[in-house]
Amino acid sequence: MSVKIGNIDLGEFPLLLAPMEDVSDPPFRYVCKKNGADMMYTEFISSEGLIRDAAKSRQKLDIFEYERPIGIQIFGGDIDHMREASEIASAAGPDLVDINYGCPVKNVVCKGAGSSLLQDIDKMVKMTEAVVKASHLPVTVKTRLGWDDNTKNVYEVAERLQDVGIQALTIHGRTRAQLYKGEADWSLIREIKRNPRIKIPIFGNGDVDSPEKAANWSMEYEIDGIMIGRAAIGYPWIFREVKHFFKTGEHLAGPTIEERIEVCRTHLDKSLEWKGPRTGIFEMRRHYANYFKGLPDFKPYRMRLVAEPDINNIYSILEEVAEKFADYDATKVLA
Ligand SMILES: Cc1cc2nc3c(=O)[nH]c(=O)nc-3n(C[C@H](O)[C@H](O)[C@H](O)COP(=O)(O)O)c2cc1C
Repeated sequence: MSVKIGNIDLGEFPLLLAPMEDVSDPPFRYVCKKNGADMMYTEFISSEGLIRDAAKSRQKLDIFEYERPIGIQIFGGDIDHMREASEIASAAGPDLVDINYGCPVKNVVCKGAGSSLLQDIDKMVKMTEAVVKASHLPVTVKTRLGWDDNTKNVYEVAERLQDVGIQALTIHGRTRAQLYKGEADWSLIREIKRNPRIKIPIFGNGDVDSPEKAANWSMEYEIDGIMIGRAAIGYPWIFREVKHFFKTGEHLAGPTIEERIEVCRTHLDKSLEWKGPRTGIFEMRRHYANYFKGLPDFKPYRMRLVAEPDINNIYSILEEVAEKFADYDATKVLA
């Protein structure tokens, strides 16, 4: 059965690309979309930044037709400012607006934003209601299990946020206190799915990094879809591999060297296009190691790629990589 958020049809068991600061920008989203992401989110955008009209926040509102369906994610600690941010984000023309109640980072939490709201559910409910009312689009939420081990309150959160009108909920199976440590635990996510009061789609998130895990956890935890974050960084093929495994029960071969280089280059070109040459080249540097992860003796190439300021020289280094690894079977290198 198709999963729907409002009128947005995501197909059967959709795979979502997670919002990731400094990662889920349009160049990265382009390569994930090409490789099968069914729905994507922007990086989180500060409501304060949007209201101040800060250039950095504004730029993050950029979305493109081919990206649909796409959600703009906002965060903040002040209800009125979140209401305003909801209006600004909706006017940018996404398919939906998402609220971040999951970010564990100190300087977000200390402003009463992100996962901090898990300590004040009444305020979270009011904020959500304000964002829902201020937007003509469906509103979704992404959160964690709770603040810490003693306060895993996402069950109550799910009910109360559904009551004020959210249309889907993504749950990262960790508490705020866990940050990114330990293993994600999805058992509470299954409890929410089994709650007869819950009608909205529930997406599971946290630690999915292989087709097997995606298949096993989809059965075990009964969720409506999966959101993938870190496993897609430098490996956008994860989406098509999971889909292929779902469909056939068999593994799709991993990307060849040529394909790795082609997609890395596309990502680079899109970065230049969207960010301009200087920032585009600079910000692409964090991705090279991931695109070529697992290749033996890749380090010298990476060192050169991350130091090189000239685009034509970067292309030449990528060609050298193609030659050096021409006979290497990269399809068996795991993500
Ligand atoms: C570099 C990075 C940036 C992130 N930025 C955001 C963000 O802007 N908004 C958000 O809701 N979650 C953010 N997250 C959390 C991810 O969306 C996701 O919940 C988390 O990484 C767990 O999923 P995974 O194991 O598939 O990576 C970020 C995670 C990482 C690693």
